[in-house]
Amino acid sequence: MELAGKVALVTGGGGGIGAGIAEAFVEKGAKVALSDVNPDYARAEAERIGGGAISLQHDVTSLDSWARVKSAVEAEFGQVDVLCNNAGVALPFQPFEDVEPDEFARVMTINVTGVYNGCKTFIAEMKARKAGHIVNTSSLNGLVPFGSFATYCASKFAVAGMSEALCQELAPFGVGVSILYPGLTRSRMSEGQMPDQDSEAAEFMRRAMMEPVWLGRAVARAVETNTLHIITHPEHRDGLAARFDAILAAHGDPAQPGYPGYT
Ligand SMILES: NC(=O)c1ccc[n+]([C@@H]2O[C@H](COP(=O)([O-])OP(=O)(O)OC[C@H]3O[C@@H](n4cnc5c(N)ncnc54)[C@H](O)[C@@H]3O)[C@@H](O)[C@H]2O)c1
Repeated sequence: MELAGKVALVTGGGGGIGAGIAEAFVEKGAKVALSDVNPDYARAEAERIGGGAISLQHDVTSLDSWARVKSAVEAEFGQVDVLCNNAGVALPFQPFEDVEPDEFARVMTINVTGVYNGCKTFIAEMKARKAGHIVNTSSLNGLVPFGSFATYCASKFAVAGMSEALCQELAPFGVGVSILYPGLTRSRMSEGQMPDQDSEAAEFMRRAMMEPVWLGRAVARAVETNTLHIITHPEHRDGLAARFDAILAAHGDPAQPGYPGYT
């Protein structure tokens, strides 16, 4: 789908990666709405980006909020062609048993139910029009798990699985799906993950942060070419290959002798 003249809604648009996606879409000539639970963040990014971008207050965990945002974008620009479910949160690195039930539920509600809510709000219309594209932000931690980050990994594996299944389901209707798997990228979230802001490790991490607009440009290309997987940080390839190899190596004889399987 060519982005020029199309309408895009980017959730978490007040944050680093969402704003990067919005900026890249504006570069392509799209009409872009940035939504965020923090309206000041979204407004500041819409003003910085320019190009007619608008900002909206939006809580992705609420279907009522989704309905209001959908109406507002349609009133301003017309129907949404590209939906980017990008809003997300993380917890500090910690032992899994220290994660409190309400923190676990909050991450799942924003990172997973928030994506479901966005899909629920837009899919039926996109299918009826036989056009549209959905981009869901997972993470490299949705492909390669990281110890002491299990809650976040659970939410991002869920987003990846949901999106890949959805891609199969929506392809016959002409609706595309892409999954963004960012590695370390400059944002409030990644700054907030650093234990000691002034340490050498923090400086090292800062140098390793990709600038969000480059992720946005990769997303724009994926929408234009209808590409499912968006890998922006290829340095994790070996880790992913090792994980896949271990899973493939676990495929021996069936647990039940003589089990015929589906064949
Ligand atoms: N920065 C990274 O290194 C990195 C790596 C992998 C994946 N990600 C993912 O990228 C996405 C964007 O993160 P970011 O790094 O730009 O962080 P960020 O904190 O800068 O942006 C996230 C934005 O989401 C908003 N948000 C939080 N809860 C919301 C809600 N209920 N409704 C609407 N908006 C809400 C926040 O206000 C914030 O502006 C997230 O899904 C994150 O998990 C980030």
